[in-house]
Amino acid sequence: MVTHDVVLIPGDGIGPAISTAATRVLAAAGAPVSFAEHHAGLLALEANKDVLPTATLDAIRATRVALKGPCTTPVGTGFKSVNVQLRQALDLYAAVRPVRSLAGVPTRFEGVDLVVFRENTEGLYSGVENEITEGVVTSLKVCTERASTRIAHAAFTYARERGRKKVTVFHKANIMKLTDGQFIRCAKAVRDASYTDIAYEELIIDAACMRLVQDPTRFDVLLMENLYGDVVSDLCAGLVGGLGVVPGANIGTETAVFEAVHGSAPDIAGKGIANPMALLMSSVMMLNHLAETRHDPACATAATAIKTAYDRALADGAKTADLGGTLRTDAWADAVIARLP
Ligand code: NAI
Repeated sequence: MVTHDVVLIPGDGIGPAISTAATRVLAAAGAPVSFAEHHAGLLALEANKDVLPTATLDAIRATRVALKGPCTTPVGTGFKSVNVQLRQALDLYAAVRPVRSLAGVPTRFEGVDLVVFRENTEGLYSGVENEITEGVVTSLKVCTERASTRIAHAAFTYARERGRKKVTVFHKANIMKLTDGQFIRCAKAVRDASYTDIAYEELIIDAACMRLVQDPTRFDVLLMENLYGDVVSDLCAGLVGGLGVVPGANIGTETAVFEAVHGSAPDIAGKGIANPMALLMSSVMMLNHLAETRHDPACATAATAIKTAYDRALADGAKTADLGGTLRTDAWADAVIARLP
């Protein structure tokens, strides 16, 4: 059996605890991966005076796959986001975030099954901010035809490969006529040129958010630029039980980094109560990615076994505190391991 080398970045706050829980489940499922731990975030800053050491980036470039815990970014001042830097450095242009209703996690809606495609490298997160004069600051929103076109291709390709029916673009092109105007123009051009079998819809983002919270089941694949995707991902997580149950992948042409949508949750860090499910679900996405890109059915088998086990655990009422349960992080991992087929 082939073993795939994967970089593990435990991250900050709840990151190390949920990483331990997720990797324990992967090992118990016999997932054919071998983790090499590297650091980014506060731990890396303390050890190397650098939140994103070159050694970590080089390791990901070598293995081409990483599993990452959340990294803290100071608010208002301090260092630039590790996550934004990582996505830009490795050109991880597509953030892919599947959001689905889960048996055993009752919410206001049933049958939610959508996927957020977020452009991950530019927009207002390009990090170009200036102080023009005291009291006047600006932030530059960057939108390139190249990035808008490739994220649209990624979303439509995903939709077609997975039998999805519709791509909805969220935008604010009524106000940001050049940037968002170009984003929707590129999306429409990609669709009309190559994906006329997929339904296409454009919605102004404020009204789109209202529709999302009224009836998320009308949506399928959502496509949007960086900032909107960041915000809408958390909104969508709230529709299916919260940040503890929404996974994510950051996909580039050369590398892919898998991480939960949530952050380092400093309010519960060190308490042993964080939900490791979103990171475990991200690990399943990683195994499926390895199965596809390395043509290794053993990865797909492990992914299916883990998904079956955590679905069973939830259905049996095995939940952490964020979902109204009583299990601690490690006990939830044990509950999943006990249900592996
Ligand atoms: P957050 O996602 O860390 O937390 C928001 C709320 O959700 C908190 O009440 C937290 O306790 C809860 N929560 C999040 N994940 C949970 C889990 N797995 N189990 C149980 N409860 C969970 O967002 P916040 O507080 O805005 O950000 C905290 C830090 O995380 C910031 O420094 C931020 O920059 C960073 N961050 C990092 C991300 C990444 O590394 N990809 C993504 C988002 C935020």
